[in-house]
Amino acid sequence: MNNIRILAIPTVLICLSLLSLHVYHSSPVEEYRNKVRSMDAINKGIKISEDLEEILYYGTLAPSSHNAQMWKIRIISPDTIEVLLDKERTLSEVDPDNREALISLGAFMENITQAARIHGLNAEISILAESNFDERIVSIHFEKAVEISLEEGELLRRNLSLRDTVRSAFKKEPLRDEHVSFLLGQIPGKAHYYPLDSSDGEYLVRGIIASNEGQAERDEAQKELSRWIRFSGEEAAKTGDGLTPEMMGLKGISRWFVSHFFTTETVMKESFREKTVSTVRKQLENCSGFIILTSPSNDPSSLIDQGMELERLWLKATETGVAIHPMSQMIEEDPWKIELKEKLRLKALPQMMLRVGYVDTLPEPVSRRRPLSEIIDVQCQGEGQ
Ligand SMILES: Cc1cc2nc3c(=O)[nH]c(=O)nc-3n(C[C@H](O)[C@H](O)[C@H](O)COP(=O)(O)O)c2cc1C
Repeated sequence: MNNIRILAIPTVLICLSLLSLHVYHSSPVEEYRNKVRSMDAINKGIKISEDLEEILYYGTLAPSSHNAQMWKIRIISPDTIEVLLDKERTLSEVDPDNREALISLGAFMENITQAARIHGLNAEISILAESNFDERIVSIHFEKAVEISLEEGELLRRNLSLRDTVRSAFKKEPLRDEHVSFLLGQIPGKAHYYPLDSSDGEYLVRGIIASNEGQAERDEAQKELSRWIRFSGEEAAKTGDGLTPEMMGLKGISRWFVSHFFTTETVMKESFREKTVSTVRKQLENCSGFIILTSPSNDPSSLIDQGMELERLWLKATETGVAIHPMSQMIEEDPWKIELKEKLRLKALPQMMLRVGYVDTLPEPVSRRRPLSEIIDVQCQGEGQ
């Protein structure tokens, strides 16, 4: 009887409850993240030290668009690695120039840099890529540096482990001045804050809604999204990537329904597209405002820097208790991606748009990651030693 009732609930209603719930998980995250950690790279014949294993593990906790984790690692020697772009994981529809892919790789490198400090190492990064489509992006050489204190190391570990994308339960409350200056001060001159109730904030709200509508109407973008949505828990556990209902705050009966009845075809339905946009509208009602990050150009080194800056700011936001939700559609879609710079009187190119605000408690991360053994380019491992 109950099952019959559940089946009768329209998809749209399920989506509604899914996206409005505020769920904060604990143990399952720890469980799978620990599994990622104890991924037995060494058992698989991958020769890396425990320190490097931990450093790379923290790298994998970086954010990436669609949680596609478009990074690979090549071990060159015990103290040198290369970071590669995994071209099978780039998003040709929403990110045709690999702009977001390189920003994601930059965030991955920032995590590696910070995790290296925990081990008393300095990560020297040299850019290898000449275009956004090259495979070899940077080489990282680890050198002995001044040891940091145990407390500082623990704080870095905590920030790296707890940083995540928060999409629900934002309060409609202005960001306190000291938080604005603290966060913008992490990357001076490259981050700009627009309060929700400012005229620029209102322009951004309209633009984010319209660009989401535009993207939801693009079949190819929607198809690409469908390939990264993991409705079932088994699929998410198997792939260790993509966007799961938990990341949207879904639990209980809604979670069960979605995992049993939603498929990649659901994403193409009109009702799903409409729900996506109405969820965005709701999200925009509650937050403090937006932080926009800018970089001088779209070349690899500028985008990698921007990804590192994004992650530096995000890790500090985590430490401060400020929630971050990237909303990229305005920078991805025409005509907004063209007009944004001029409308906001920016001197450099807008690369990341972040909805920011306060929540009661920052939720535990629930997004999945692939194990290190899958991102280390085993074939080439050891070459050059
Ligand atoms: C370049 C970039 C663009 C992103 N754009 C969006 C976005 O438009 N909407 C969104 O909800 N999340 C966006 N995200 C957040 C990712 O979905 C998120 O980082 C990923 O799913 C992993 O989850 P986590 O950040 O909680 O670890 C973006 C992240 C990056 C790095």
